[in-house]
Amino acid sequence: MKLVFATNNKHKLQEVRDIVGDRVEVLSLADINCYDDIPETADTLQGNALIKARHIYEKYGLDCFADDTGLEVEALDGSPGVYSARYAGDECDSEANMRKLLENLTGKTNRNAQFRTVIALIVKGEEMLFNGIVKGAIATEKRGDSGFGYDPIFIPEGRRESFAQMSSEMKNSMSHRFRATQQLGDYLKENYD
Ligand code: IMP
Repeated sequence: MKLVFATNNKHKLQEVRDIVGDRVEVLSLADINCYDDIPETADTLQGNALIKARHIYEKYGLDCFADDTGLEVEALDGSPGVYSARYAGDECDSEANMRKLLENLTGKTNRNAQFRTVIALIVKGEEMLFNGIVKGAIATEKRGDSGFGYDPIFIPEGRRESFAQMSSEMKNSMSHRFRATQQLGDYLKENYD
C-alpha cells in the first residue's frame, strides 16, 4: 500500500515510517512533486488536517493522510489550540509564543494542558480521524533546551521534567504525535494487511 503524508518534515516522516513498517510505503509531498502552499484556514485541528488531506486526495487522487497539532490549555478554554504555531503573531516564533502563554497564565492555579495531534486519513474516498493526546501541565518558567515549540514549558503527567529536559527517544515514546501515529498504524494493520 502507498500513502502520501502531506508533509515534508523529515522527522515526522521517519517517525511514521518507523511505526507503520514495511507494509506501507509513505511518500512525502516532494515525492509526488507537490509544492502547493495549502492554506490551513479551519478553526479546529481536525478541520486543518482534513483540508490538507482532501487537497491531496482531490488534486492527485492518491490515498493520503495529514496531521495538525496544538497545545490546549484548560484555563484558557483550549487556547492556543489550532493557533499554537502563530499564537504570538509570527509563524513559529516559539520564544514569543511561550512568553505569551506564560503571561496569560500569570496568577492562574489551573495549569492543566494537553498536546493533541489529529491525523486525517483518506483511503479510496473514505475519511478517518485519529486523535493522539498527552496530558500534562504548563510550567511556571522554561526548563531545558531540547525539542522544539512549547517543549520547555510542557511537563507531561507523571513526570517532573519538561519535554525539553528529556531525550528525544523518551519524549517521542509518549508524545501526542506518537500516539496518533500508533493509532493510524494499528488501523492500517487491521484493515490493509
Ligand atoms: P504542527 O501542526 O505539527 O505544525 O504543530 C503546530 C504547532 O504546535 C508547532 O508550531 C508548535 O508550536 C506546536 N507543537 C507541535 N508539536 C509539538 C511538540 O511536540 N512540542 C512542542 N510544541 C509542539
